[in-house]
Amino acid sequence: MATIRESGYGRNAVVPPEDSVLTHVGLGTPMGELLRRYWQPVCMSSELADLPKFIKILDEELVAYRDKSGNVGVLGAHCCHRGTSLEYGRIEKNGLRCCYHGWLFNSEGQCLDQPGEPKESNYKDEINQPWYPAQEYKGLVFAYMGPLDKKPLLPKYDVLEDENADYLAYRNFSRGEVAKCNWLQLQENAADPVHTNILHGWNPGLFEFSEVMAVEPTYDYKHANTHVSYIRTTDLDSGYKLTRTSTIFVPTARSVPPTEVTGTDPDRETERARMVGWWVPVDNENTIGFHVELIDPNKKIFQPPDAPLVRSYEEKQRAPDDWEAQTSQRPIARHALEHLATSDRGVALFRRHLREAIKMMENGEDPPGVTRQPNQELIVVPSGNEVVAPDQA
Ligand code: FES
Ligand SMILES: [Fe+2]
Repeated sequence: MATIRESGYGRNAVVPPEDSVLTHVGLGTPMGELLRRYWQPVCMSSELADLPKFIKILDEELVAYRDKSGNVGVLGAHCCHRGTSLEYGRIEKNGLRCCYHGWLFNSEGQCLDQPGEPKESNYKDEINQPWYPAQEYKGLVFAYMGPLDKKPLLPKYDVLEDENADYLAYRNFSRGEVAKCNWLQLQENAADPVHTNILHGWNPGLFEFSEVMAVEPTYDYKHANTHVSYIRTTDLDSGYKLTRTSTIFVPTARSVPPTEVTGTDPDRETERARMVGWWVPVDNENTIGFHVELIDPNKKIFQPPDAPLVRSYEEKQRAPDDWEAQTSQRPIARHALEHLATSDRGVALFRRHLREAIKMMENGEDPPGVTRQPNQELIVVPSGNEVVAPDQA
């Protein structure tokens, strides 16, 4: 008897809710609290000149600025007096002054001046503008939005620590100026090696993936509570072997090795990754990307930073790329509707490590990778390309 396959009846009408534990980023949500235990990049250092910058991160409206003494501050956007946005404020020597009635705040939210109040008033000493610790690293401004007594050291990445090298910080526009989807589906993409030879290999590439990236590889994974790496090995017809290791860190950082590798030049192409990127949630359905990349004058920059790419719908359909693949997973991908396969091992591992990190935090421990011990904040990045010649294999 022929099997009757189920139809779509009703299935397309009922969309289960998202996995809120892993995807929601607001204050008090499990992932929102986990994300707040890590420093997150919020803007580029170069964006803080003589005007304050409005930003939205983890569903909170903030204003970043650099005062005239050079200190970077991240304050709640709305002035605690009567709510005017400090993005219209005036930058001064020691802080940011609200445009409406002139209250002046320093980078720790202290109110230094209230020009409309009587001279003898101490009211300003009782006032606190919401603020977050801010620090700069390699051209990005990072904020720590968690409890102050849990504040870790700002991590450093060993691939960004060559004292003789120059680094470029830029906004990653590969999914638009602000990607219209949840942060997790963007982050998971770098633990998904199959898409590199299908999505990028089968389509006329926007990102200049080399031809060997389209050759079918084998896959393996390495993981710890701090990160998941895929190891993608390709035996090329030429006899060369290309092995690529790409890593995503709990929660929002990643390091991907150069994609223009040709697999023909062991000396030149065997190298560690040259970039670290972050997918930072704006809110549950929007995400901003930042990159820091080592500038090697002899090599290509991973993703040119100029401006968001504008393509027609038809172009996107004919040559889909990361943007189309990931933002169309729905604004928040529905894990309950997925059919994870062997090739999704990296994705499954990462979700598992995120859940474990949430549990650690909820049990009162520090989540993975968090440290307050000086000199322990260096993260060793396992990502890179390795090209082995036929006679060496
Ligand atoms: S609203 Fe900011 S000083 Fe009044
Ligand atoms: Fe990709």
